[in-house]
Amino acid sequence: MQTVVITGGTDGLGRGLAVHYLRQGARVVAVGSTPAKGKALLAEAAAVSAADRAVFLRADLTSVAAAEELVTTIETTCPSVDKLVLCAQRYRLFGPRTVTSEGFEHSFALAYLSRYVLSHGLRKALESAPRPVIMNVGTPGVPLGRIHWDDPQLTHGYSGTKATLQSFRANDLLGVAFAALYADSPVSHVGYNPGVVSTDMPNHLPAPLRVLTKAAFALLATSVTKAVAPMVRLLDEPPGERCTAYRSSRRLPLKGPAFDQDAALRLHHLTQDLVTGAKP
Ligand SMILES: NC(=O)c1ccc[n+]([C@@H]2O[C@H](COP(=O)([O-])OP(=O)(O)OC[C@H]3O[C@@H](n4cnc5c(N)ncnc54)[C@H](OP(=O)(O)O)[C@@H]3O)[C@@H](O)[C@H]2O)c1
Repeated sequence: MQTVVITGGTDGLGRGLAVHYLRQGARVVAVGSTPAKGKALLAEAAAVSAADRAVFLRADLTSVAAAEELVTTIETTCPSVDKLVLCAQRYRLFGPRTVTSEGFEHSFALAYLSRYVLSHGLRKALESAPRPVIMNVGTPGVPLGRIHWDDPQLTHGYSGTKATLQSFRANDLLGVAFAALYADSPVSHVGYNPGVVSTDMPNHLPAPLRVLTKAAFALLATSVTKAVAPMVRLLDEPPGERCTAYRSSRRLPLKGPAFDQDAALRLHHLTQDLVTGAKP
C-alpha cells in the first residue's frame, strides 16, 4: 500500500489530493494545524471506507522543532513514504513582520524551512519506496522575488510580499539543491505551480484584499478537483529527472537565478546552519 504524506492536507489542494489518494486505496498522512479540519478529513475518509488508512497529524509547521518531530513520527510509523506533497502555507502579504517562537520570520519558517526539514528529513523513508516523489507546491516560473542573502529574516525593510516571494524562490532552490546533493537518489523533486485555484486561501487575507481576491478567483480560478488532476498524473508518473518544475501540465525550463545551482547550494548550507542552531 502506498503512503502519501501531505502537509496542508486538510484544506485546499492538499485536501483534494488527500481525498483522491484515500479513494485510490493509499494510506494518507495529512498534516495541518487545526484539529477541526483534521477531524473533518477523517470523517470524509470514513465516508469513503478509508478510515483505517487516514491519519491526521496536528503540527504547527512554523516551528522547526515541530517539523523535526513530525519527521520522527512519520519515520517511526510508516515503513516508507511514496509521495511527499508540500502544501502548507498561510500568506502574510500585509501587516508587520512577525517572528516565530524560534526567532524566524513567519513566511521563511512556514513556507520554506518546514519544507526543507521535511524534504531532507524524510529522504531515507522516500528512498525505501519504488518511485518516490516530492511535490513542492508553490510558484515556480514566476519571475518575482529573490533571496535576501544579507538579511534572509528581513529584519530591515520588511514587507509581507517580499517575504512571501523570498519563500517561493527559496523553494525553487530547495529542489535544485536536493537534486545536486543526492544525485544518485531515486527521489524526484517536482516544483509545482497549480495556477489560480479556488481554495480557502483568500479567507485568510485582510478584508479589502480578501474581497478583491475572491472576485478575481470567481472569474479566473480552477476548481480544486480540476487542479488536482495534473498533480496526480505527475505524482503517479514522476519525471525521470531528479529536479523538474511545472506550471499545471507544462514543464518549465530550469533557467535563471531561481534555479541557479551555486545559489541553491549556498542556500542549503545557510539553511542547514539555521536549522542546526534552530535560530537565525
Ligand atoms: N490556491 C492558489 O491559487 C495557489 C496558487 C499558487 C500556488 N499555490 C500554492 O498551493 C499550496 C496550497 O495552497 P492552497 O490554496 O490549497 O492553501 P489553503 O487552502 O489555504 O490550505 C493551506 C493548508 O496549509 C495548512 N497550514 C497553514 N498554516 C499551517 C501551519 N502553521 N502549520 C501546519 N499547516 C498549516 C492549512 O491547515 P490549517 O489551517 O489547519 O493550519 C491548510 O491545510 C500553497 O503552497 C500555495 O502557495 C496556491
